[in-house]
Amino acid sequence: MADTQRSWEKRLAAKPDELTVDYVESLSYDTRLYQYDIVGSIAHAAMLAEQKLITQPEFKAIEKGLVEISEEIEAGRFEFDKSAEDIHMAVEAALIKRIGDPGAKLHTGRSRNDQVATDIRLWLRDEIETLQAGIAQLQKAFVELASKHPDDPMPAYTHLQRAQPIVIAAYLLSFVEQLERDSARLRNCRTLLNASPLGAGAIAGSTLAIDRKSTAEKLGFADLVYNSIDAISDRDFCAEFLFDCALIAAHLSRFAEDWILFSTNEFAFIRIDDAFCTSSSMMPQKRNPDVLELMRAKTGAVYGALVAMLTILKGQPSGYNRDLQEDKIHVFSTADTMENSLEIAAAVVAHTTFRTREIRAGLDSGFLDATALAEYLVKKGMPFRQAHGVVGALVAACEKQGKPLGQLSLTDFQERSPLIEADVYDYLGAANVVRRYASAGAAGPEQARQQLAFWKKHLA
Ligand code: ARG
Repeated sequence: MADTQRSWEKRLAAKPDELTVDYVESLSYDTRLYQYDIVGSIAHAAMLAEQKLITQPEFKAIEKGLVEISEEIEAGRFEFDKSAEDIHMAVEAALIKRIGDPGAKLHTGRSRNDQVATDIRLWLRDEIETLQAGIAQLQKAFVELASKHPDDPMPAYTHLQRAQPIVIAAYLLSFVEQLERDSARLRNCRTLLNASPLGAGAIAGSTLAIDRKSTAEKLGFADLVYNSIDAISDRDFCAEFLFDCALIAAHLSRFAEDWILFSTNEFAFIRIDDAFCTSSSMMPQKRNPDVLELMRAKTGAVYGALVAMLTILKGQPSGYNRDLQEDKIHVFSTADTMENSLEIAAAVVAHTTFRTREIRAGLDSGFLDATALAEYLVKKGMPFRQAHGVVGALVAACEKQGKPLGQLSLTDFQERSPLIEADVYDYLGAANVVRRYASAGAAGPEQARQQLAFWKKHLA
């Protein structure tokens, strides 16, 4: 019977103190890598057999043992012992206990350093696809809602002051486009991390004739990390993943902030379904947007994870250091947060209605059509700077009289500029303005329809 992991301890005179065991273990969180760890081990063992470093029957025994262990973990029947430190040792120890000598050959030409780097890359490859699916779900929900409002106007804000009229669809599609970049960033991250560190060993590779290309191929990696030191040292891809998540979180947070405002009585632009609101323990009238507030708040933890990861990396000497173990804490917690937030964001969007009547009723305040009036004057031949001044004066006059531009008489207009004619009224008011947007990507119904058609096809 071969030595189990205890053979490692022969170097050390004393058993580790209980405090040490607790402090260094990662089993409590890296267990979720088990499938990837086992798949990696099977690929490694198959390669060892190809290279005649183990026999074919030994490989078969290893493979069978690992598959059984995987099934036990899956079924919750596997007993984890935290003195095993991490998932790699837990699986290996269980294998050796189960099949003896062949199991003790599994770790040939391999270290936990290249093993964990492999596992986390494999895990991230899948997780990125999960997050991309979550992003697509949310995009679809926005597109669905947008397709109900290609013509309905709403105010757009800059500095949170009324700016220009837009159609609701254009507003909603702005999130779809930014989410598309979020997905593309994740795709780039996945492409860069999809290279195999396996076979880099502890830091220098191996004196044994292992075949790294073979394991890389078996695991579906597109390439190798060629330098063994780099392969086990870096977690740049974890930092990149966390940055990509931080931007998604920022986008979700800005969306949440909008809708928290829009759902107030002051704005009254949207109604979020009761199922996605909470109430107050004291104030019976309340419908609170707690879901969106938490989405906004969780951004802090995601940013924190990114800063933690960058900080973990910055002070380390080259090579593997135990600091790297903490990468997983931040990567896992962030991935979980992002999965949850994307899922509930899609649900909130799917269960929200725009209060078009209320929005329309408020469109006459705030001079949303002022810029369009200046552009009307430009069309009549006036230089834009001059037109800006004429409209500014008209707005000031209207403000004093408490009325929108559209309620000025033609004489009022012509006092400021003889270029203004009776057709001006067709250019005023939010509905007229949005109809006249003529530039690519503008926030009018025509452009919104084009974008809707594009996204429907793209996301199908
Ligand atoms: N649990 C460790 C980690 O997550 C595995 C690698 C440990 N390697 C070592 N030489 N102590 O990074």
